[in-house]
Amino acid sequence: MNCYAVILAGGRGERLWPVASAKCPKPLLPLGGEGRSLLRAAYERVAPVVGAAGKVYLVTDAGQAGRMRAALDLPEEQVLVEPEGRNTAPAIGLAAAYLSDRDPRAAMIVLPADHLVRKEEEFRRVLRAALGAAAQGHLVTLGIRPTFPATGYGYLRRGTKLMQSEERDVFRVAAFAEKPDQDTARRYVASGEYSWNSGVFVWRVDRILEEIDRHVPDLAKVLDDLSPELVSSRGDPELARRWAEIVPVSVDYGVMEKAGDVAMIPADVGWSDVGDWHAVWEALQRGVGEVASWGKHVGQDTARCLVWTTPGKVVATLGVQDAAVVDTPHALLVADLGRTQEIRALAREARPAAPDWEELRGHDSAGMLSVLEAFPVQCRDALARGQAADAPESLAGFRRVLCAGMGGSGITGDLLARLLTVEVSPHRGYDLPHTVDEGTLLVGISYSGNTEETLTAFRQGLERTSRAMAITAGGELARLCGERGIPWLEIPSGLQPRAALGYLLLSSVPWFSGWGVLRYDVGPALKLLEDMAGELAPGRSGNVAQQLAENLHNCVPLVYAGDPLTSVAAFRWKTQINENAKQPAFWADLPELCHNEIVGYELTQALLPSACVVFLRSSFDHPRVRARVDILKEVLDRRGLQHLEVWARGESPAEQLLSLLYLGDWTSAYLALRNRVDPSSVQPIEELKERLGSGQSS
Ligand code: F6R
Repeated sequence: MNCYAVILAGGRGERLWPVASAKCPKPLLPLGGEGRSLLRAAYERVAPVVGAAGKVYLVTDAGQAGRMRAALDLPEEQVLVEPEGRNTAPAIGLAAAYLSDRDPRAAMIVLPADHLVRKEEEFRRVLRAALGAAAQGHLVTLGIRPTFPATGYGYLRRGTKLMQSEERDVFRVAAFAEKPDQDTARRYVASGEYSWNSGVFVWRVDRILEEIDRHVPDLAKVLDDLSPELVSSRGDPELARRWAEIVPVSVDYGVMEKAGDVAMIPADVGWSDVGDWHAVWEALQRGVGEVASWGKHVGQDTARCLVWTTPGKVVATLGVQDAAVVDTPHALLVADLGRTQEIRALAREARPAAPDWEELRGHDSAGMLSVLEAFPVQCRDALARGQAADAPESLAGFRRVLCAGMGGSGITGDLLARLLTVEVSPHRGYDLPHTVDEGTLLVGISYSGNTEETLTAFRQGLERTSRAMAITAGGELARLCGERGIPWLEIPSGLQPRAALGYLLLSSVPWFSGWGVLRYDVGPALKLLEDMAGELAPGRSGNVAQQLAENLHNCVPLVYAGDPLTSVAAFRWKTQINENAKQPAFWADLPELCHNEIVGYELTQALLPSACVVFLRSSFDHPRVRARVDILKEVLDRRGLQHLEVWARGESPAEQLLSLLYLGDWTSAYLALRNRVDPSSVQPIEELKERLGSGQSS
């Protein structure tokens, strides 16, 4: 009989707060104390039973699919993605519907991704026995011999013996019992008739679908309507719509308790659901004084404690007993080890409330969000300004461009390098490279017109080439151009330089077009920016920039790009997060970072535990870069490092580049609000300029 394994990876582990979270759900935690995650342990436990790695499937929800898949390095087709978790019956139904198309009479082993099994060989022996019973049409579940009167588990009452399989007795399940109270649990354990319900099931695909048909007809209807392509599709709106119709129900309650032919095999496999910190304490190896620890712990007169800490941090305890001490970069839990079941409610209270963006908007005293919302208008105005004057003939014929500019103005040079057909060198600093000559078009770019480095480099350049122009809102640069008769594009003043990027970049585009060196037409991208303004402005529901800001809150972003086109976007994300959100951020690009930064991950957890990699993705990424990103995600997961990805929008290079820039600008502004700082102010930059003094450059 053909046989598949289906790992259900939906659990978040709320009682394992503060370690388990949406960003790091329970299946990805190394709760067994051996370094491998529960999910990987589940995979390695079951793979030998089904034979081939290609026969292990994962069911997870859209929010977790990337992380879970990367953690196992499974091919996409082996990961079935529920648009959202609807409890175990729909997840199992989805997998059964998918497998039924391959082989309806195949057997299917279902196991949770977040349990621990110490006796793995024995577990596999029981599974093989269960497969024998499943072949006869039974719905088989594994019954765990209870070791204490647990109130947190469901129980199975053993009925008559049904058969023998692989020398194991297979019993009918006489009754299912919900989580009992303490007295009832004691009675169950004393009777010897009850087992814990392990959530591990073995059945034939056709049998479970029959039972779903009979007992959960609404779910069966949805499953019947789904084609295998739809089941395996990601982010399909049709699947999301149908999935939202499903009433969440567990397979125990929805199917097993009602089905007629339910069997169980007693299993003594060292099982634990590691559902709370007490269970983790039991699962970990305990040392002197029954103390179990993960991470660095030093203790004196400490007994029966669980201590869990993040790498790079030491927890010290003195005279502490019966406690769980769980430390993370963001939260610390100190609890009575006997009451860790109660943590769920406490965690809900301790978790930061969802941000009130309306209230946070009060920090935007200088109106950065309004400027951002008007960015597409700024871009159109910039193009119109450039078109108003013809490209000066005297400057035509250059072979290369050098853009001298700093900070928010300086990035214009990097962007022009992507948009023009000639070589463009952005220059940030005082002395110009020796390559500047008569064949070079010198472009001085300074919003204020007073930036010392830009003025110095521009003046130097004027000695070497007669082809010079400037882009500025005024200041010394405008004065100099006026005095020497140098063409310059005047842009409106009154903005923060970095918020005037539309003017700085696009006002010169018509001139470059006139000189015949424009590679990409940026006009069509403006429509996309307008759509994005509508989606990302404050008050829009499902605002992606706000969600990103929320994900990056309290993190140090490491922004990665996979293409020379988008690497400037990664740089802009970094600088905008610095200047708007007033926090550190770093950037790097692929494939280069695979030759250095990747090695630094070894100690990132210890030195920078709140690092979060942001992959900026584009359809122009090289196929080998795409393969590298997949591997990198796996490496990051193995190291316990957070990551997320952001896809460029639109078709053309200009659309993809500008969409990433614009999303980054919004994200950094919302991150500023989340950090409760004014996105506009850049007091340290001003102070430095002030202290260096004006007039130095003249
Ligand atoms: C401030 C900003 C800065 C400036 C930089 C150079 O909003 O973006 O990075 O751009 O200090 O000043 P300007 O652009 O006036 O030459």
